[in-house]
Amino acid sequence: MGKRHSVIVGMTRSGKTYFTKHVLKNLQSQGYHTVFFDPKHDDDYADLGEVCTTPVEFYAKLLKKVPRIVYRPSPKKDERADELSRIIEMMFSLGKKPGFKRMRRIVAIDEIQLMVKKGTNDGVEMLWTIGAGMGIVGIAITQRVQLLNETCWSQSENKILFKTDDRPEYLRSRNLDHYSDQRDFFLDSKNRYYYYATTGDGKWKVREPVSDSISSNVGTPPTIKPPSKSKGKPIGNLKTQRFMGLKRW
Ligand SMILES: Nc1ncnc2c1ncn2[C@@H]1O[C@H](COP(=O)(O)OP(=O)(O)OP(=O)(O)O)[C@@H](O)[C@H]1O
Ligand SMILES: [Mg+2]
Repeated sequence: MGKRHSVIVGMTRSGKTYFTKHVLKNLQSQGYHTVFFDPKHDDDYADLGEVCTTPVEFYAKLLKKVPRIVYRPSPKKDERADELSRIIEMMFSLGKKPGFKRMRRIVAIDEIQLMVKKGTNDGVEMLWTIGAGMGIVGIAITQRVQLLNETCWSQSENKILFKTDDRPEYLRSRNLDHYSDQRDFFLDSKNRYYYYATTGDGKWKVREPVSDSISSNVGTPPTIKPPSKSKGKPIGNLKTQRFMGLKRW
């Protein structure tokens, strides 16, 4: 996820921000500079970096090369959308300057639908169209596939779906019939925090919940017993799931 754009979709409490935190912590330990754009001002995720609330403060942190930043925008829709565009533009313009060129950056945008006006946001479009070439990669997080703008969806190689309540017809229109076929599995509370993912090779797999070994400072999460005996391995294709009794039909 450090190299290609990603989308993360799931209903409320499905585990998408927790997953994002796990990914960001991992990438931080590999030397990536991370920005977590957090319109919800969620205290559970405040330890992902130094918190700032205005583009000016953000720019000062970029200049100081602060490696981990949490940006909390204004609660007003117009303002927060503009703030997102502005901070993305700042990263792009600074990325061209000597001393900043080789930096690898990840920008995770939580509840991205809150910042996208009339289906688009200049910063989001810029990030998803030319960001990867400049070493700036995006993670778009939202509640339904339908809420994602087309550019984010089509330009993201990594697609991660937790349980969603997108309509089956809509999922079909995005070639996700195979996900709607498995929705009962994801909706079952026994399988909470499981997700369905592809890395852009056309293959989708059901994956076990991420575990907290890296992102370990928000209290002890509930223990989740994987339904299979294989420890920590991703669960394979549909056939394997049936074999393991994961699917109930
Ligand atoms: N893999 C996991 N292991 C243990 N606990 C988890 C896991 N994923 C999520 N949780 C817990 O479940 C709760 C909801 O997770 P999270 O905040 O990621 O949901 P969300 O999809 O971002 O929902 P929201 O729409 O409310 O932001 C949190 O308390 C989180 O700590
Ligand atoms: Mg969340």
